[in-house]
Amino acid sequence: MAELHIIDHPLVQHKISLLRDKNTGTKEFRELVSEIAMFICYEATRDLPLKEIELETPLAVAKTKIISGRKLAFIPILRAGLGMVDGVTKLVPAAKIGHIGLFRDPATKESVQYYSKLPEDIAERDAIIVDPMLATGNSAVAAINLLKAEGAKNIKFMCVICSPEGVEAIKNAHPDVDIYAGVMDEGLNEDKYIVPGVGDAGDRIFGTK
Ligand code: URA
Repeated sequence: MAELHIIDHPLVQHKISLLRDKNTGTKEFRELVSEIAMFICYEATRDLPLKEIELETPLAVAKTKIISGRKLAFIPILRAGLGMVDGVTKLVPAAKIGHIGLFRDPATKESVQYYSKLPEDIAERDAIIVDPMLATGNSAVAAINLLKAEGAKNIKFMCVICSPEGVEAIKNAHPDVDIYAGVMDEGLNEDKYIVPGVGDAGDRIFGTK
């Protein structure tokens, strides 16, 4: 069953509070999303396998560990997911980045795909989808569908704020996908925004409103 991991570290909670403030400007909002993404990624990569190696320190030979084997891809859902890429690639610089473009049909609130470009070897990579807001879950489920259709087997979903509805949608459609979030909010309003949330994350990251 899909597990929900809430990253309740005080630094994450503090930074999410700063994000929520309507007076937080674009520059600070963007920096905060990137920093929070880094913290959440730290937990989402906790199960990366290690192997032991030997090397020489200035004093002695050390048996020590490095990450072994598994290759990662981060998949931001356009456009707000782009705000998390900088933070996650600071932690895993060798990861490949795929992009999935989905927009929410304003009438039906359903996700419509308009773009997709994934690493050629996505089927051999662990894939972590990044999107700051898990609201209805429609985009998340559509992105996971697409990744699975391309052969990805090991998929995680990372967001800053999730709603109960979004978590339920992923759990129902993709019980094998774990979710990593900073916080779970109360729910969605009639426009399918997360409440209290942060408003439109894309607009706040890119300063478009
Ligand atoms: N997307 C956003 O940017 N904010 C929400 O609250 C929900 C979806």
